Amino acid sequence: MTDVIKELDALRERVGQWRREGLRVALVPTMGNLHGGHFSLVELARRHADRVVVSIFVNPAQFGPGEDFDRYPRTPDADVQGLADAGADVAWMPSLETVYPYGSEAAVRLRVPGITDVLEGAHRPGHFDGVATVVARLFNHVQPDVAVFGRKDYQQLAVIRYMVHDLAFPVELVAADILREDDGLAMSSRNQYLDGGERPVAAEIRRALEGMAEAARAARPRQLVEQEARERLEAAGFVVDYAVLRRTDLLEPEAPGNDDGGRVALVAARLGGTRLIDNLEFSL
Ligand code: PAF
Repeated sequence: MTDVIKELDALRERVGQWRREGLRVALVPTMGNLHGGHFSLVELARRHADRVVVSIFVNPAQFGPGEDFDRYPRTPDADVQGLADAGADVAWMPSLETVYPYGSEAAVRLRVPGITDVLEGAHRPGHFDGVATVVARLFNHVQPDVAVFGRKDYQQLAVIRYMVHDLAFPVELVAADILREDDGLAMSSRNQYLDGGERPVAAEIRRALEGMAEAARAARPRQLVEQEARERLEAAGFVVDYAVLRRTDLLEPEAPGNDDGGRVALVAARLGGTRLIDNLEFSL
């Protein structure tokens, strides 16, 4: 049974009670429209804590002008049912006013420097400021011991790590593996925007990522690997924002610093009106 809580006082009372009982609390932040990927985060959270809170809040501050905030799928009833099946204790569903008492435009905003200027940050200006701003608020609401984020949003995870360390949030971060459909397409709420013709094509992203890993391991020059992945995706019908190889700290492999041979291939590409991101971690 999952309790739906919409008021901050009630949430604080519930979490406070758990704390007095000496229980460890996990938070899984989401924007709802939950799918298997989210439920696997809940399952992981249960392994790291005694009680699990899942927040559901479509955060206007992380959507740019012309992005899909208005049409982002909102399915609260199905979400709560799914959370009950997944064993979450509380669905934290705050109103806009609870998250942003002065409104999202007038909110105190966080800015994580450096890492937010590239890749997703370069293509979606302000996106990570909005993510950091809302995640800090959710941490303040729930005050979790542990928070679970998916590796699909690879750069988001790096941004949250930076923020948690820099602001000394007493929260342990746990990263969850990407859950995929049978054909390799990473699970995402945005997959449902794909029409019947686009859906099988979307799986080409995973194949392109695998091709990049294979080519990098075969010591092919990085620029060539990236160019080939881009061309492969364009030939399949994508408009590619980026298809790149990076170290796991998201720097270019040639950049100064420690190189332990860990790599991540990252792709962001549009198919029709749908923007998809995915990544694949590997070692050379
Ligand atoms: O990954 C997401 O769903 C969102 O970016 C998050 C972390 C819930 C913040 O709104």
